[in-house]
Amino acid sequence: MEDPAKPRASRWLPAGTFEGQVALVTGGGTGLGLEMTRGLAALGAQVIIASRNPAHHRAVTEEASARGWKVDAIQLDVREPVAVERAAAELVLRFGRVDILVNNAAGNFLCPAERLSSRAWRSVLGIVLDGTFYCSRYVGRSMIEARRGQILNIVATYAWTGMPGVVHSASAKAGVLAMTKTLAVEWARFGIRVNAVAPGPFHSEGAAERLWPEPGMRERLEAQVPLGRLASAEEVASHCLYLLSPAAEYITGECLVVDGGLSLGRNMWVSGETRRHPAAE
Ligand code: COA
Repeated sequence: MEDPAKPRASRWLPAGTFEGQVALVTGGGTGLGLEMTRGLAALGAQVIIASRNPAHHRAVTEEASARGWKVDAIQLDVREPVAVERAAAELVLRFGRVDILVNNAAGNFLCPAERLSSRAWRSVLGIVLDGTFYCSRYVGRSMIEARRGQILNIVATYAWTGMPGVVHSASAKAGVLAMTKTLAVEWARFGIRVNAVAPGPFHSEGAAERLWPEPGMRERLEAQVPLGRLASAEEVASHCLYLLSPAAEYITGECLVVDGGLSLGRNMWVSGETRRHPAAE
């Protein structure tokens, strides 16, 4: 029987999978980042979560001390290269190394491109694209020295399909996807794997507030998903953990799509009826 105290994201991997490893998860106190943090910690990792808002740290650090997990938190704006460099150096000093970097911090909201201000564009590009590069560069340098490590970047399927209303995020995520593949090849010789996960829309409070704020929007979206539902953050996190685990040690430069088939073409099929199309009866 499933242990209810075990985070769902950790249930497919053996206990102790990440024992002895040090993981930095940006935006690790909320949404998908939180579920990855919980899963990694439950499987033995020392996790450090980094986010701008210290209020996002409390819930997970309290849960960690109640459960005996090793979770620490630092305040960090990934858009600030000097701060990222300092944080990376401090982590290496304190924990000896960083084995896993998860570039999860993001900013997003729906806004028509013609109304998006320059500061709004800069803000999202800064968090997603610049932040992923700064963290990868500074943490990557210590991984290069250690001749091991792995980086996981959270992107989105609209990095290649595009999506109205998120030109800022889609452009930034497309850049992160290119960065993933580039660094995978550049840093393979140092024993560093670099991969990405592209979730489709999955349920989290942040996503609900920003991406399907109006009544009925979530239901309309679910009707478009061939598997007929949105994923949960825990479910997406469990696929992220798989890519970080030894089960995936020959995979690098890959982008794993976790979207229930949403980004696949289906123009012969009626929206919402994909599982009971007459041709399938
Ligand atoms: N629609 C249009 N513009 C918006 C916006 C929205 N919903 N939210 C913010 N902006 C604009 C602001 O108006 C500002 O531009 P302006 O000065 O020209 O008016 C610019 O974006 C920067 O906003 P600010 O709040 O000062 O920036 P920030 O860097 O503190 O915030 C955001 C970053 C905008 C990405 C904010 O949404 C955020 O912090 N999100 C983090 C969590 C998140 O989005 N997670 C993703 C879940 S799917």
